[in-house]
Amino acid sequence: MAKHETPLLDQLEDGPWPSFVSDLKQQAEVRAKNEKGVEFQIPQDTVDDLLGVLELSYKHGRTHWKHGGIVGVFGYGGGVIGRYCDQPEAFPGVEHFHTMRVNQPAGKYYKTDYLRQLTELWDFRGSGITNMHGATGDIILLGTTTPQLEEIFYTLTHDMDQDLGGSGSNLRTPADCLGGSRCEYSCYNVSALCHFLTNEYQDELHRPAFPYKFKFKLDGCPNCCVASIARSDMSFIGTWRDNIQIDQDAVNKYVENDPAYPSNGGAHKGSKDWGPFDIQKEVVGL
Ligand code: HEM
Ligand code: HEM
Ligand code: SF4
Repeated sequence: MAKHETPLLDQLEDGPWPSFVSDLKQQAEVRAKNEKGVEFQIPQDTVDDLLGVLELSYKHGRTHWKHGGIVGVFGYGGGVIGRYCDQPEAFPGVEHFHTMRVNQPAGKYYKTDYLRQLTELWDFRGSGITNMHGATGDIILLGTTTPQLEEIFYTLTHDMDQDLGGSGSNLRTPADCLGGSRCEYSCYNVSALCHFLTNEYQDELHRPAFPYKFKFKLDGCPNCCVASIARSDMSFIGTWRDNIQIDQDAVNKYVENDPAYPSNGGAHKGSKDWGPFDIQKEVVGL
């Protein structure tokens, strides 16, 4: 049985799309049942209260999160984003509901035991709600209380070799595409540069000294999979040093639908065959 009635939020479960409301309800239920016997360090019903306060915001047409209050871990000025609710009596489970940014690895590669450790830590000391990954790039851990911050930071840094990311007016966690590790288009070693920049600018990353945030983002080639040009202040986009080489003979054969030069290199052969490209139908006439 849900703690709060949420008729307005319930409407967001309609339609063909995944719903964050359904996800939150599921997480509220997991915590209520607590089949794993977790010794929750923040209120067990924090997710119920998150749903409750959001429903109230929909009713009032304004947020019930206060902005303000600096909160963090010793020695760092970034990485934790303070969130306080302006309705602590009605929703004590989200009186504090701070976000932690965790520095994702270059290319976002994980081992399953790392992910298990991270989610176990977050179930134990946080709400269990994550955003993998935030638009900024980081692992986002949503919702914990002030006394838990140092505990989480200790476990991350001592037991998991894991640092916090950026927030506030500092250098934000550099983010990259997966580069040459999986992608044939990569024109430089994206992961190495991302790793280097992260290490080189540790101080700037953790101690906000700028008048505003600053972002590096790295794309291996002009396909711009991480949209570095739109999303960062300094984007790195791999390109060619030489003149672009074109095999005009092969291009002509492709245009003439020569079977030796199938579209998409033959990758969709048999499954999705759209036939020859018709510029009038597929572009001009749309
Ligand atoms: C006063 C309240 C809040 C303000 C002003 C606020 C503002 C922001 C801003 C400016 C960002 C950074 C966006 C970026 O640079 O990527 C952010 C990130 C984020 N916030 Fe909030 N927020 C608030 C409350 C919340 C709450 C209550 C939640 C969830 C329950 C939340 C979830 C997130 C998430 C998931 C991100 C990471 C987004 C991403 O990187 O994709 N925020 N918020
Ligand atoms: C439908 C509405 C909106 C969507 C979907 C949205 C989404 C986002 C996303 C995805 C980012 C992360 C950019 C990145 O680093 O990749 C972002 C950043 C941000 N958003 Fe929004 N946003 C919306 C409306 C707003 C509004 C109304 C405000 C403020 C009045 C706002 C304030 C910000 C700020 C301050 C940032 C950080 C910008 C920066 O990186 O310098 N957003 N938003
Ligand atoms: S930006 Fe280029 S190199 Fe990076 S993943 Fe996308 S296509 Fe590959």
